[in-house]
Amino acid sequence: MKDTSSSLPWLNLPNLPTSLKVLFAGYLLVIGVGLCMAGLQIMLTHGMADGKLGLSKDDIVYSYYGDRSGSKLESKLNGSMKDHAPPAVKLEIIKWAREGAPEAEWENHFKGVFAQHCVMCHSNIPGIPNFTKFDEVKKVAAINEGASVQSLTRVSHIHLFGISFIFFFMAFIFSFAVNVPRILKILAIAFPFAFLILDVLSWWLTKWNPGFAWLTIIGGVGYSIASTFMWFTSMYQMLILSRNGKIYGNAWEADLKH
Ligand code: HEC
Repeated sequence: MKDTSSSLPWLNLPNLPTSLKVLFAGYLLVIGVGLCMAGLQIMLTHGMADGKLGLSKDDIVYSYYGDRSGSKLESKLNGSMKDHAPPAVKLEIIKWAREGAPEAEWENHFKGVFAQHCVMCHSNIPGIPNFTKFDEVKKVAAINEGASVQSLTRVSHIHLFGISFIFFFMAFIFSFAVNVPRILKILAIAFPFAFLILDVLSWWLTKWNPGFAWLTIIGGVGYSIASTFMWFTSMYQMLILSRNGKIYGNAWEADLKH
């Protein structure tokens, strides 16, 4: 192999031309805000699944496995909807739901019960089921089996394609970092991809068996740590370390040496 020890000495994060630094730092900044928003969104949707704020193992079980001990109607009547009807009415609705919400009792009885206690909201507020319609009551009265296979397939492929793009560019930028031990660099680049697969796999496993919910947490925490490390190292080297005027040499070439 020909000697290339002095080629492209500026090819590293601190010494990159400013135009590339602006490109890389701009991308990382937007991705950073995006990842925070993603975290917030998870807290607000999945985080509230069990009716309590904050993400827990129960939220994950609830989102993917469901609550097979009862219907959504039942769990809401015991949860965030519990103040909207007196105990006797709640019990009656729950009993009806457990019997499979037979339509025979809808017109002459339960339609009126829901009209009295629920439809002032559940026919007016957009985005929540409309309880003047039997079909929509029937849907929430069914046993909650968590995410459907259709929605899991959809979310899985969007997640895998979309997030691997984010990680690819982030890791590509990080590959120009200097002073990071070779093995640490390789692991930091590999981890987000590995944890992404683990994360998506864990949703399917949790749908099948709720015991796997902790895998989802490990996957999420794992790629958050790896990407935070790459993000901060890259930003630090481009914006701060670069100020000492030192030439660091070709970062990729340095990784070739053992
Ligand atoms: C003051 C307004 C209000 C009243 C009254 C009300 N709800 Fe709700 N309901 C909401 C809102 C807002 C949501 C969405 C937030 C949530 O899930 O807690 C909701 C959600 C639900 C859901 C979950 C729907 C879904 O698909 O996620 C069920 C089931 C439900 N309500 C049942 C009832 C029943 C049964 C009653 C009557 C006993 C009732 N609600 C009365 C406002 C109300």
